Amino acid sequence: MIYKKLSAEEAASFIKNDDVIGFCGFTPAGCSKVISQALAKKAEEEHAKGNPFKVGVFTGASTGDMIDGVLARANAIKFRSPYQSNTDLRNALNAHDAHYFDLHLSELPQYLRYGFLPKPRIAILEASSVTDDGKIYLTSGVGISPTIARLADIIFIELNRYHPEALAGIHDIYEPADPPVRKEIPVYSPSDRIGVPYIQVDPKKIAGVVETNLPNEVGKFTPADEITNRIGANVANFLSSEIKAGRIPASFLPVQSGVGNIANAVLGAMGSNKDIPAFQVYTEVIQDAVIDLMKAGRVTFASGCALTLSTPALEDVHNNLDFFKQKILLRPQEISNSPEVARRLGLISINTALEADIFGNINSTHVVGTKMMNGIGGSGDFCRNAYLSIFTTPSVAKGGKISAIVPMVSHVDHSEHSVKILVTEHGVADLRGLSPVQRAELIIENCVSPEYKGILNRYLKLGQKGHTPQNMEAALSFHVAFNQTGDMRNVNF
Ligand code: COA
Repeated sequence: MIYKKLSAEEAASFIKNDDVIGFCGFTPAGCSKVISQALAKKAEEEHAKGNPFKVGVFTGASTGDMIDGVLARANAIKFRSPYQSNTDLRNALNAHDAHYFDLHLSELPQYLRYGFLPKPRIAILEASSVTDDGKIYLTSGVGISPTIARLADIIFIELNRYHPEALAGIHDIYEPADPPVRKEIPVYSPSDRIGVPYIQVDPKKIAGVVETNLPNEVGKFTPADEITNRIGANVANFLSSEIKAGRIPASFLPVQSGVGNIANAVLGAMGSNKDIPAFQVYTEVIQDAVIDLMKAGRVTFASGCALTLSTPALEDVHNNLDFFKQKILLRPQEISNSPEVARRLGLISINTALEADIFGNINSTHVVGTKMMNGIGGSGDFCRNAYLSIFTTPSVAKGGKISAIVPMVSHVDHSEHSVKILVTEHGVADLRGLSPVQRAELIIENCVSPEYKGILNRYLKLGQKGHTPQNMEAALSFHVAFNQTGDMRNVNF
């Protein structure tokens, strides 16, 4: 290897106050693990000396504690984009200690190329191997790596021996041209390979390689419970009825599913529903359920941006690469989440809402309207463009003190125009072709928790006038009641 071997501290010493850094990976999969920690230590040392030290941070999506957690605790983040899900960073964003720019994940690489955002001077990439002529083979997440590798002046590689070199070949690296000469992204089926399995850079830009041997920080998924199982079964039964009605082709359509336990439960339920044929996945995050279904022959191919797998599932993939490399492709997020591809392939898109309103608007990001939870992630990339966009949510949170279905969402991420189906543990509301009043009646009837049905029916009568019968005095009364009394059931109308 021609590259200089560095310690994480030596690599971090190149990074200056106010630098802009692009980090590899997507979710904790394939993220930087040691340079980021050394950087946080350096920031703390600089702060102890009374010096300012903050950097701008671009990532693929959420990361692990080893990037977002350590840097937030060191108060070392000047701005951050796009998605995050770390408690300490969330607290920093909500306290305005760091600025957060939340945008659709597919858009970040082109925002960087177009110059809409500051150019990253430094790219930090985790690799399973790197060649002397500048070919970088990534690990389990791709994210924005191709774009930051091209734009950055300096690249540091974390060569992580935990990931076998034989992973090479699982990635499909492709960067679209920019307008006015961009063509369609030539993915006509989830398994189409359109690029090369590595990122090519000028080897002179690689300032050093830090060797590591560390697993991803993907936490354990909580096992499915009664609520998530019922949501999963409702989605699966709805999809099988759509096949019977001829609105989904008998051969089915590629599936995108969001992050977390509900997504795992939905995929599990679809896998065990005999009316749904074996299907392909065109998604952002490949979770454990996809691997299980692949082994059972129920998922035939998965295209994604990251293998966000528990350690046993990732080791299963590593130990059976001959099998899985035939069935998985990992792509940059502007390809995995491409709105153009989502519309053309006809994805069935299933994401989780924090809050929905009776007219079909969705809040994916803001707790009671003000506090950032995680971010919009890829939900907007998919839902606006899918063949069928489904949102799932448990009908209540905090033991019933919060109804996930309210008169008016306290923040809008996905409007009524993009949301086709709403599913809770109580049932399914198919909103296609319905007026606002019809949507409200159906959502209250099929999806709302019994303890909130009467209140929402009462609300609907308050509005009375207009195409969308909101009552402007009471529209946010659920949130006001929660803020004042800790329980949305105490509304005062
Ligand atoms: N109001 C206030 N708080 C609410 C709430 C509501 N309507 N609904 C849920 N919560 C709280 C829960 O009580 C829980 O709180 P806790 O952390 O204190 O226990 C927290 O929000 C998370 O709820 P949970 O049910 O565990 O959510 P989740 O892990 O399934 O995540 C989202 C749900 C919406 C936050 C998550 O899916 C997300 O970030 N989505 C946006 C991005 C996205 O869709 N990505 C996928 C695209 S590929």
